[in-house]
Amino acid sequence: GTLDEVQTQTGTGLASDDLIDMFPDIKKQLRSQYEIEDIAKYYFDGQGKAFRPLLTVLMSRAINMHLHNDERIYESQLQIAKIAEMIHTASLVHDDVIDNADTRRGKLSIKSMYGERKAVMAGDYILSVASAMLARIRNEEVIVVLSQVLADLVQGEFMQLGSKENENERFAHYLKKSFKKTASLLAYSCKAVSILSGADDNHQEIAFQFGRNVGITLQLVDDMLDFISSAEIMGKPTALDLKLGLATAPVLFACEKFPELNPMIMRRFSEPGDAKKAFELVHKSDGIEQTQYLAKQHSQEAIRVIQSLKPSSNQKALITLTDKVLNRMK
Ligand code: FPP
Ligand code: MG
Ligand code: MG
Repeated sequence: GTLDEVQTQTGTGLASDDLIDMFPDIKKQLRSQYEIEDIAKYYFDGQGKAFRPLLTVLMSRAINMHLHNDERIYESQLQIAKIAEMIHTASLVHDDVIDNADTRRGKLSIKSMYGERKAVMAGDYILSVASAMLARIRNEEVIVVLSQVLADLVQGEFMQLGSKENENERFAHYLKKSFKKTASLLAYSCKAVSILSGADDNHQEIAFQFGRNVGITLQLVDDMLDFISSAEIMGKPTALDLKLGLATAPVLFACEKFPELNPMIMRRFSEPGDAKKAFELVHKSDGIEQTQYLAKQHSQEAIRVIQSLKPSSNQKALITLTDKVLNRMK
């Protein structure tokens, strides 16, 4: 599966024992006597990269090592890894309804297999089961931290619906949106496992900032791949953002060289030929390179932050994983 590939390529085989039971456990939690069970389990087939759980277990072991000289992982930290994957998956099930996307992870999306109504309910169901798992950890602080992620995900999606009038505010708006829709889950999952490790505010902040910077890197690269990769490689539609009216980093950078993009951004590429024209202008500009450069800066910041922890094999794996996020092709 893809999880094995990622673990091998990143030298994170260490984490494979932690995650070996993850998908069977999640599927067990999703059991129900109704059809919703099959729909909800659909993406937990081991074909995803399981990037969020991987990052969460490696962070758990790295922080446990730093604070207790013992890199064993706690059961509660393993639960956070599963919950993070479930929140992420639930949000994608809904995202494909919002974006009208027919493929995901190399197969038909839930939306296209079962229709919009069932997709909305399946996302809600996965989220409700994840909420119960979170409550059972019985740590109020951790519940507060991960609840923030749910609010951020929805706010991030909402921020995406509007375009900023003021050109100077656009990039800040884009970065804030990227934090909410992508980095928040990584940042707060890292923070949650640090809380469970008994970390003080300083170390919680290290965990948070690592997750935040990896998350921003992830979204910048995702927005770049939407312009340069293909649906075959990505297993989901590409060249889609402009058609959805979204101005992501490559277009925002391209604006500096081609100001004629500004009115198109404001009308959210709604006129015939807008999306195609903007796509060409992005490729004629250095928007892709500038996006790559900004992603690299965030990945370097993530690495700098994590290096303040005691050296360990898990810390090294976190650095390799960060590089992988930056240099990935899918
Ligand atoms: C993918 O972005 C979408 C997200 C990262 C977040 C989606 C959040 C919601 C739909 C809010 C609902 C939240 C919950 C918890 C149920 P994308 O469309 O840019 O990426 P893609 O290319 O993978 O589709
Ligand atoms: Mg979307
Ligand atoms: Mg989408």
